Amino acid sequence: MKTNPRSAPDVSVRGLTRRFGANTVLRGLDLDIESGEFVALLGRSGSGKTTFLRTLAGLDAVTQGEVRLPANRAVVFQEPRLMPWKKVWQNVTLGLTGADARGRAVAALKEVGLDHRLDAWPATLSGGEAQRVALARALVREPQLLLLDEPFAALDALTRIRMHELVAALWTVHKPSVLLVTHDVDEALLLADRALVLEDGRIRTELKITQPHPRARAMIGFSLMRADLLSALGVDVDGPAGIAKPADTVACRVPDDAKPRRTAPVLRSV
Ligand SMILES: Nc1ncnc2c1ncn2[C@@H]1O[C@H](COP(=O)(O)OP(=O)(O)O)[C@@H](O)[C@H]1O
Ligand SMILES: [Mg+2]
Repeated sequence: MKTNPRSAPDVSVRGLTRRFGANTVLRGLDLDIESGEFVALLGRSGSGKTTFLRTLAGLDAVTQGEVRLPANRAVVFQEPRLMPWKKVWQNVTLGLTGADARGRAVAALKEVGLDHRLDAWPATLSGGEAQRVALARALVREPQLLLLDEPFAALDALTRIRMHELVAALWTVHKPSVLLVTHDVDEALLLADRALVLEDGRIRTELKITQPHPRARAMIGFSLMRADLLSALGVDVDGPAGIAKPADTVACRVPDDAKPRRTAPVLRSV
């Protein structure tokens, strides 16, 4: 694995292949992530999303293919992974070197709205608060590449919406390159510049999302993009009776289709 200087693209992956015994999970995967770009990675369960993210995090060695990455990376997982015997601020500075660790923890916790819980123990935090501490722990490292593996999946719907707003705001301020692994199509559409679908070990589908931030489900093209991505994931939203149709897809489909096609997304097979 090689590291990139601060020049575009931030991430360059060529021909990445990863096998676990007879199971080939990544099969010649290619991907570039531009500096400051927010990319969402979707795919069915077991398609290799976490395996790929672990490779970008440096947690899994590259045995076949070439991966170029910025040196400064941080990861947030689905579970916050806080040390229960360390206070909140100490969890944020875990493994951090340099002067004024506590001061830097305070600044990062302020950014996620938790500076009032500096000296709290992890066990006293809600799920959303714990995940915000995990986000602060990533932020304090000022990563050039932020890797997020389904970080909101375990949170309730309301907390998830707040986390989306927080991540969008932090990204706007700090502009790291982001790879967000998610199974939530709406999350990808609300946050990312580009949504990718991993299938059979490669990026098979790419959707550019150009709508300005902040975004909402009411934005032009949302339901069409949503249907396209769900279809790329193998969910037949227009399929036979018996396959669940997300309510707002059906409701929004008519006005979206009535708009000129140039406002519609371009789903590209890769
Ligand atoms: N350490 C491992 N040893 C053996 N098989 C693994 C290991 N990690 C992942 N796998 C397998 O690789 C495949 C992809 O897993 P994963 O990357 O976790 O998928 P996803 O995150 O898309 O759900 C699965 O079949 C999984 O069982
Ligand atoms: Mg996973």
